[in-house]
Amino acid sequence: MENYQVNQDGFYGDFGGAYIPEILYGCVENLKNNYLKIIQSNNFKKEFEQLLHDYVGRPSPLYYAHRLSEKYGCRIYLKREDLNHTGAHKINNTIGQILLAKRLGKKRIIAETGAGQHGVATATVCALMNMECIVYMGKTDVERQHINVQKMQMLGATVYPVTSGNMTLKDATNEAIRDWCCHPSDTHYIIGSTVGPHPYPDLVARLQSVISEEIKKQLLEKEGRDYPDYLIACVGGGSNAAGTIYHYLDNENVKIVLAEAGGKGVDSGLSAATIQLGKIGIIHGARTLVMQNEDGQIEEPYSISAGLDYPGIGPIHANLSAVGRAQVLAINDNEALDSAFELTRTEGIIPALESAHALGALRKIKFNPDDIVVLTISGRGDKDMDTYINYYHQK
Ligand SMILES: Cc1ncc(COP(=O)(O)O)c(C=O)c1O
Repeated sequence: MENYQVNQDGFYGDFGGAYIPEILYGCVENLKNNYLKIIQSNNFKKEFEQLLHDYVGRPSPLYYAHRLSEKYGCRIYLKREDLNHTGAHKINNTIGQILLAKRLGKKRIIAETGAGQHGVATATVCALMNMECIVYMGKTDVERQHINVQKMQMLGATVYPVTSGNMTLKDATNEAIRDWCCHPSDTHYIIGSTVGPHPYPDLVARLQSVISEEIKKQLLEKEGRDYPDYLIACVGGGSNAAGTIYHYLDNENVKIVLAEAGGKGVDSGLSAATIQLGKIGIIHGARTLVMQNEDGQIEEPYSISAGLDYPGIGPIHANLSAVGRAQVLAINDNEALDSAFELTRTEGIIPALESAHALGALRKIKFNPDDIVVLTISGRGDKDMDTYINYYHQK
């Protein structure tokens, strides 16, 4: 059987590893040597589980979407990460990483953010734990997700708008890594997705795996079996998807569908469909698929969704696609927007634009009536209201 998990050297097949500057070697080694010991300790697990329950509001519901199911001719369940405190799955990871940072003796927290959900989730746990918080965010994203910027500031974080490149997630991550290089000993970098050097992809996947742990229990209660026929999630860097599929990777009865951002079309030159367009390269410390030109220069990605607007992809997903374990679909901006309105009007749930890409996958799959589908709604749409309202008025 294929092994879909990270190996001893930090690789998923051909993807992963830790390609880092010398200055970060010590802190990445320290993290690598301690993360499993800490997150598997009883003391960590107790505090993590309690906060997920009492503070985040977990378990998040697994909701049977009647009208959506009728429409697509199958049985669709929505995993409601949108109902978490701070409005997305990102908080699962930031709670875990702040507890880890405390145990590593770190005093200062930095983070990158695209849609602002990870930034808000990081600022939230820093307020909770009384830690200094600095968030790097591309200037384009600061403008299109301004409510989240205001929330981070209210929570006490310093938000630095980044003006390099096309001023989105890649550029924010570059800047966060630069900061980390200047403060390697006292700073913990809370990476927001299954990206970055080993052990981050594995660490983030493990912290998010509470999603599939819950799905197993909830499906067993509702359907009398603990696995679905399909799991569907959107992929930016890949953390909500990694959490959704974690406990199902070895169950070949479960088809995995990953929805990436097609932008204005995969062949339009304005896309963030990294798995389809990318070639092997190194980005932000990992060997993975990267959108790049013939000279290896990173291509600027484009997506209407700030959280999916990234030219790399978590190594776990690059591998799942390469070995054929996951099917990857590119969902264009207009398909995601239509799907967001469809969910709103059929189920009364306004999803985040990122999650709307996962919903867009429904129209590209031929289901059987008894297929059980679990689709993760990674976040709520409050931050995207300007985009939705503009689209609505244009139609
Ligand atoms: C609501 C939501 N979903 C999905 C994503 C994409 O990230 P990931 O692929 O790590 O889940 C983001 C990123 O900001 C987000 O805010």
